[in-house]
Amino acid sequence: ITMAMASASPTTPLTSSSPFRPVALAGKIAIVTGGGSGICYEITKQLLLHGCTGAIICGRRENFLQKASATLSSITGKSCRYMVCDVRDASACQAVVTYALSNYGQVDILVNGAAGNFLSEAKSLSPKGFKTVMEIDAQGTYNMSHAVYHAMAKSGRGGVIINISMTLHYGATWYQAHASAAKSAIDSLTRSLALEWGCDNIRVVGIAPGPIANTPGTTKLAPGFTSDDVNEMIAERIPLGRLGTAMDIGMAAVFLACDGSGGYISGDTLVVDGAEWLYKPPM
Ligand code: HXC
Repeated sequence: ITMAMASASPTTPLTSSSPFRPVALAGKIAIVTGGGSGICYEITKQLLLHGCTGAIICGRRENFLQKASATLSSITGKSCRYMVCDVRDASACQAVVTYALSNYGQVDILVNGAAGNFLSEAKSLSPKGFKTVMEIDAQGTYNMSHAVYHAMAKSGRGGVIINISMTLHYGATWYQAHASAAKSAIDSLTRSLALEWGCDNIRVVGIAPGPIANTPGTTKLAPGFTSDDVNEMIAERIPLGRLGTAMDIGMAAVFLACDGSGGYISGDTLVVDGAEWLYKPPM
């Protein structure tokens, strides 16, 4: 541990500016579930800054969505609309796609980011608690992908579906039986849908973020941690020596969404975690 701490001094990202052209996604329309906050807010921002003409962010909390869409429109100078949608409800997902088609005439990119999570020992987790997370994460990803399929396939242009996953299920993670099962299902869906929908020119990919600073996914799973705890964790466990940023995930999304960079990638999940999940203590 001492060796690892000595060699991994925390660093800052090399740059916070994008290496991609601002027209990389010119004319595309995106739907981003969970886009009102956290990682998916930044993904929406980057999609719009890289050429998307419009985006619709979805979630359950209207006040968050309203503020986020206004801010995103103003920061990017693009059209960002919102629609309240619980992704567990298939008809609500279909309504989002109908709204996108009536406002923008097309859907090119879907980001399935809506997720629910909390820490709970499996023995104390109620069946309903398990089901709730499975339904938001896995069923919700299926519902929205299924709703968007016909719009993408009929257009003749196809599209890209990006599923937000995680790495906690690559091994096993304490108190995350529900979320790990749900994200495993999502990774499986990424492969199955890529297989079946490739002939419609629909690419289906995933992003598995590691610990990303200032996002609910990280703060909710580290309750009561002090900044010293976090710095120790970074030094010990993250080979790249820093927490991820939402921008790191935004750039991965632009890379995968853009046919010029991600055009032959489908069915795979890109891990963006500074090699955190590979961590083992020094021998
Ligand atoms: C144990 C819990 C619980 C908790 C809810 N439940 N919170 N069990 N510990 N902390 C149980 C409830 O007791 C109930 O079962 C069942 O789950 C449904 O709870 P509801 O509150 O009725 O459901 P709902 O309102 O739909 O809430 C969904 C939620 C909630 C997931 C439970 O936490 C939520 O919506 N959170 C906001 C979204 C979120 O967490 N985003 C962060 C995702 S981060 P019973 O049997 O008691 O009725 C992420 C990435 C992680 O996913 C990876 C990072 C590296």
